[in-house]
Amino acid sequence: MGQVHVIGHPLIQHKLTIMRRKETSTAEFRRLLREISNLLAYEITRDMPVRLEEIETPVAPMNAPVLDGKKVVVISILRAGDGIRDGILDAIPSARVGHVGMYRDHETLEAKEYFFKVPEGMESRAAIVCDPMLATGNSAIAAVSRIKETKPRSIKFVCLVSSPEGLKAFHAAHPDVPVYTPAVDEKLNEKGYIVPGLGDAGDRLYGTK
Ligand code: URA
Repeated sequence: MGQVHVIGHPLIQHKLTIMRRKETSTAEFRRLLREISNLLAYEITRDMPVRLEEIETPVAPMNAPVLDGKKVVVISILRAGDGIRDGILDAIPSARVGHVGMYRDHETLEAKEYFFKVPEGMESRAAIVCDPMLATGNSAIAAVSRIKETKPRSIKFVCLVSSPEGLKAFHAAHPDVPVYTPAVDEKLNEKGYIVPGLGDAGDRLYGTK
């Protein structure tokens, strides 16, 4: 079974609770998603390699750590993934960005691709794939399968809320891809929504309902 990192940090949990509340406004939802994603970036990048570089402070020379090697690409699953993308970019401003457009067929709940754009040189990049809701897992599975065709050096998946069903399906398809999530909720309902969840993340992020 693949790795699941449940990020229980109190700040993240508190902000997520505000996001779940049905009365939370679009503006606040968007701001909180960006803040949480910025905090999640610290967890996701915990194992990034560093090397020492000789620098001079105003006082003395020193060997100081700088990020080494792997170049990061943040890949957003449209459209709600963009909310996480921006928070991660606040923490890693030099990261490249890719987008995968998937929509969910409301009849079959299957994921269909309509857009795919990632930077060149994926072979040397560490990919962080983001989508707020890991519900059925269908779009995440399809997006990661498509991204694997570009052969990135590594892939991590980050979401805000996941379901037990989604985690199981995702790791059945991609046991090599660790998932970072602040919450594993109770279940999916018959419409494929996470219960208790927070509703439709895209609608709440963009105010489209
Ligand atoms: N997508 C959402 O935005 N919310 C869910 O609960 C499930 C899928």
